[in-house]
Amino acid sequence: MSIRTATLNGVATIEIARPEKKNALTAAMYQAMADALRAAQADAGVRAVLITGQPGIFTSGNDIEDFMSRPPASGMDAPVFQFMFALLECDKPVIAAVTGAAIGIGTTMLLHCDFAFVSDEARLAMPFVSLGLVPEFASSLVLPQRIGQARAAEKLLLGEPFSGADAVDMGLANAVLPAGEVVNHARRVAERFNQLPPGAVREAKKLLRAPQLDAIRQTIRNEAELFAARLRSPEAMEAFQAFFQKRKPDFSKF
Ligand code: COA
Repeated sequence: MSIRTATLNGVATIEIARPEKKNALTAAMYQAMADALRAAQADAGVRAVLITGQPGIFTSGNDIEDFMSRPPASGMDAPVFQFMFALLECDKPVIAAVTGAAIGIGTTMLLHCDFAFVSDEARLAMPFVSLGLVPEFASSLVLPQRIGQARAAEKLLLGEPFSGADAVDMGLANAVLPAGEVVNHARRVAERFNQLPPGAVREAKKLLRAPQLDAIRQTIRNEAELFAARLRSPEAMEAFQAFFQKRKPDFSKF
């Protein structure tokens, strides 16, 4: 299993642990993360959730081998959607410790966490279009709202990578920390919720999220239809094959 979970001091930790594949996420891993989020939600002893990765890598996003051979359907019961909706619906604070590169869903999931602390060595990117795909997890809605249309176009159309400092400047993350300190810092923030009244935290989080929730849910569904179709497109196939053949994709024939 490449997802480790543990609950300590009121904090449920979900650790992505597949370093040999740069923490690429498989269907089984999404399912494990969805189950862990739901378990944290149901456990009255849990006051906050911490999502973290490995030194140097948060996650390289969806497993590209899975994209090619086991593409998720657009049906909302696929593990990736279970994870997305469990994160969206988690009424306890979710804190991300971005320990390194955060690609694809690694960056888009941060839009739905309550706090994100980023290693000073991390690079973030949402290269969906470069892979022949479209944005997911309501990033096409939330990102322009958070950082403006112009910068969202850089990140979502050009797939431009950015640093943790850029993420903080744009309001996508709370702070940049030295690589060795990011997890402990995030954990200390998560543990602060042990001293706060959980009912008030829950209601306040709901209020912060409520105005956008329906639109986010609908956007996730709309994106998912397109995403599922794009996964089977010749453009995406070319991009995936190029990744494994360690070459640049050639889109000149399309
Ligand atoms: N899916 C499947 N395998 C992946 C992967 C992914 N998303 N990301 C990395 N891997 C695998 C590589 O194929 C390689 O496997 P191998 O050792 O069997 O050849 C291994 O993990 C190490 O990756 P590598 O690319 O050699 O590491 P790196 O340090 O040079 O680069 C990244 C790290 C994260 C920058 C790079 O792996 C990357 O860009 N990954 C793909 C990101 C992506 O496009 N994700 C999809 C977003 S929708």
